Amino acid sequence: MAIIGVFDSGIGGLSVAKAIEQALPDDTVVWRSDHKHIPYGDKLPQEVLGFVMPIFEDMIAEGCDVIVAACNTVTTTLIGELRACFPDTPLIGIEPMVKPAALHTKNGVIAVCATPATLASKRYAWLKETYAQGVTVLEPDCSQWAYMIEHNRVNEQQLQRQIDDLCNKRADVIVLGCTHYHWIEEVIQKLAKKRAVVIQPEQPVIKRLLFVLGRS
Ligand code: DGL
Repeated sequence: MAIIGVFDSGIGGLSVAKAIEQALPDDTVVWRSDHKHIPYGDKLPQEVLGFVMPIFEDMIAEGCDVIVAACNTVTTTLIGELRACFPDTPLIGIEPMVKPAALHTKNGVIAVCATPATLASKRYAWLKETYAQGVTVLEPDCSQWAYMIEHNRVNEQQLQRQIDDLCNKRADVIVLGCTHYHWIEEVIQKLAKKRAVVIQPEQPVIKRLLFVLGRS
């Protein structure tokens, strides 16, 4: 039995924590968020690092054997620094699924929905350069999505316009590159009306977790 820490700025991590609990019912999942400072997606990495450090310290003090950084923003901007600060605790990151999307697209067009900080990160640029050569990557403005989801104010009409725009530009894979968006996966799938598939990384993260825990 392991203690698995799951962290995000807000309720995005809860979606990931629930998926882990369902897949690993005998382990203990400790979910932590940072409601005081949400959203992270419009902040500078160094500022976010200052918020995240004490929370990770607490989780390790609480006995977490492994921590899932269930936040694309934290992973793409800070995972290297965090791994250097906490070398004795395995950290599993979550980042936009550019590689699977690029492999899956038939039209050569994918859409990555993510926070401004994730889209501006070097890691994300590297993912595109490495895995999406020759693929058009659309990056819709999702800067309000985390707020909208956190406060239960999902505006389906606005989403419909954004999803239609992506599909009209021939995107056939939509990547949910922020864990908050996992909560509206089904809405986006519905709005895409079979024109695009929607992907998010909960199952690959569980696979990685099993590997890190020595169970696969
Ligand atoms: N859920 C986080 C992510 O995966 C970010 C939300 C925020 O902006 O705080 O990127």
